[in-house]
Parts: sequence; C-alpha cells; structure tokens
Amino acid sequence: MNKVVIITGASSGIGLSTALYLSEKGYKVYGISRRDFHNDKFTHISCDVLDSEKIKKIIEEIYLKEKNIFAIINNAGIGISGAIEYAKREDVEKIFEINVVSVINLCSIAIPYLRESKGKIVNISSVAGEIAIPFQACYSATKSAIENFSMALASELKPQRIKVCCVRPGDTKTSFTKNREKTEVVNDIYGQRILKSVQKMERDEQRGADPIKVSNVIYKCLKKKNPPLVCTVGIGYKLLCLLSKMLPKKFVNYIVYKLY
Ligand SMILES: NC(=O)c1ccc[n+]([C@@H]2O[C@H](COP(=O)([O-])OP(=O)(O)OC[C@H]3O[C@@H](n4cnc5c(N)ncnc54)[C@H](OP(=O)(O)O)[C@@H]3O)[C@@H](O)[C@H]2O)c1
Repeated sequence: MNKVVIITGASSGIGLSTALYLSEKGYKVYGISRRDFHNDKFTHISCDVLDSEKIKKIIEEIYLKEKNIFAIINNAGIGISGAIEYAKREDVEKIFEINVVSVINLCSIAIPYLRESKGKIVNISSVAGEIAIPFQACYSATKSAIENFSMALASELKPQRIKVCCVRPGDTKTSFTKNREKTEVVNDIYGQRILKSVQKMERDEQRGADPIKVSNVIYKCLKKKNPPLVCTVGIGYKLLCLLSKMLPKKFVNYIVYKLY
C-alpha cells in the first residue's frame, strides 16, 4: 500500500515540485490548491485552504478511499510587502488566515488519521521567520508563528508518535515573487526604501534555489524516523540562521536594516 501524502499549494512552485518529487519516490500524493490543475502524476483537488468545511470533507474522502494518511504538508502560502503604516486590515487578516490559521486547521483535522498511521506533519516556514525582514513584517510574523506553533504541536503529539517538522526555505525561484501582493504606498515618508527593499527581495528570490532542493529536504523529513524540528534548506541559510541565534538581536537587526 502506497503511503498517502497530502500537500497544499500543489499547483505551483515548491508545492508542485514536491508533489511530483514525492510521486516519483512512490508516495500516493494528493495536492490541494485553488486553481484547476491537471497532471498525470498526482491527484489535484481544487479548494481554498480557507474553506475549512470543504477541507475536512476532502480529508475524510481521501481516508475512505485510501485507508491511510501518512503525512500532511502545509505549504500553501502568500506574501504581502509594504509598510505596516499603510497595511489594510483585510490584507493583514488574509495573510494570517492563509499562512497560519489554515495550517492550524488542517493539522487539527488530520491528527486523528495521523495518529493511526504514526504519521508526519511538515509545515513550510521560511528563513524570514527567523530573520525578520522589513516591509515584509506580516509575512515574517506568520512564518515565525508557524515555527512556534510547530514546536508546541510536536510536544503535544510526541506520545502519539506523530512527528512534526518545519522546513525552512530561503530564497527559492518560484511564482511567489509575482504573486506577492504589494501594499499601496500612500505618501513619500519612506522615500525609496520600500521600492528598494521589495526589489532586493524579488531579485534574491529570482536568483534563488530551485524548488527541488526544498522538495528533497521535505522528502528526507518524511523518510527519517526522527526528523529535526526545524530544517533550514541549504548550507548558507543554515549558517545564517545559526548566526542570527548566536549574535545579539540588535546587531542582527542592524545588518538587516542596512541590507533592506
Ligand atoms: N519562494 C520563496 O522564496 C520561499 C521562501 C521561503 C518560504 N516559502 C514558502 O513556500 C511556500 C510555497 O511558496 P512558493 O514559493 O512555492 O509560492 P507559489 O509558487 O506562489 O505557490 C504558492 C502555492 O500556494 C497556493 N495557494 C495560495 N493561496 C492558497 C489558498 N488560499 N488556498 C489554497 N492554495 C493556495 C497556490 O495555488 P493557487 O493559486 O492555485 O491556490 C500555489 O500552489 C509558501 O508557504 C511560502 O511562504 C517560499
């Protein structure tokens, strides 16, 4: 019986790459994202992760059909850039709903099935969750929240032998850059800083790693009996995150301020 893996955000970027990679490795993959998407390697179901009733039904139906759910990968996510001063409340709510609330929701739906399979939860965070990026403050906050949530959940689920792992990619070349929503600039107080920062993050992402690197790390987390709680993708980012933990916060923030 093939192990069943459910991944959100499977129509593009890291999610699509991972769905294809895991299918090749012999997993039975179900992908969930909003748009219509067809391929012959995995089953794609169109659904918004915010539609919790539909998500619940999808998970129940997959279990009824397959008789096992081995892992869920919470990958769907969005980015919003701009100054917090100009942020609209509905945009702030949207990014927290998609990047955090829907992750918590899918975990809570899937836990009974994962208890049976002694399965795994992989949540996709970001280096921006460890190193807070200006003009991406909400995004950084959501990813930081995911890491804290995952650590607490790992402790809750330890006796039930469900493993929780956060995979933390750095800049990765995907459609995330073009899909990022930009908050309207209302006046000139920030000068060119917003534009320059956003241009830098966009440039870094488009020069970033191939999503397959993230897929490979996710695969290793699924394979390992005891995966790490947080797994940063790439040696450079691993070093960066380590330094950020070791150095004084004020110094790290000053470097980030200078870079962005
Ligand atoms: N790219 C990077 O540099 C980078 C770095 C660190 C972390 N990450 C994280 O990696 C994850 C994947 O991002 P990516 O780079 O692969 O971006 P992407 O190419 O834009 O893919 C995002 C995926 O999420 C889906 N999605 C977005 N909102 C959704 C919703 N409400 N319901 C269901 N699906 C939804 C999209 O599909 P639909 O539009 O069809 O719904 C798409 O499949 C995100 O969590 C992101 O924060 C990315």
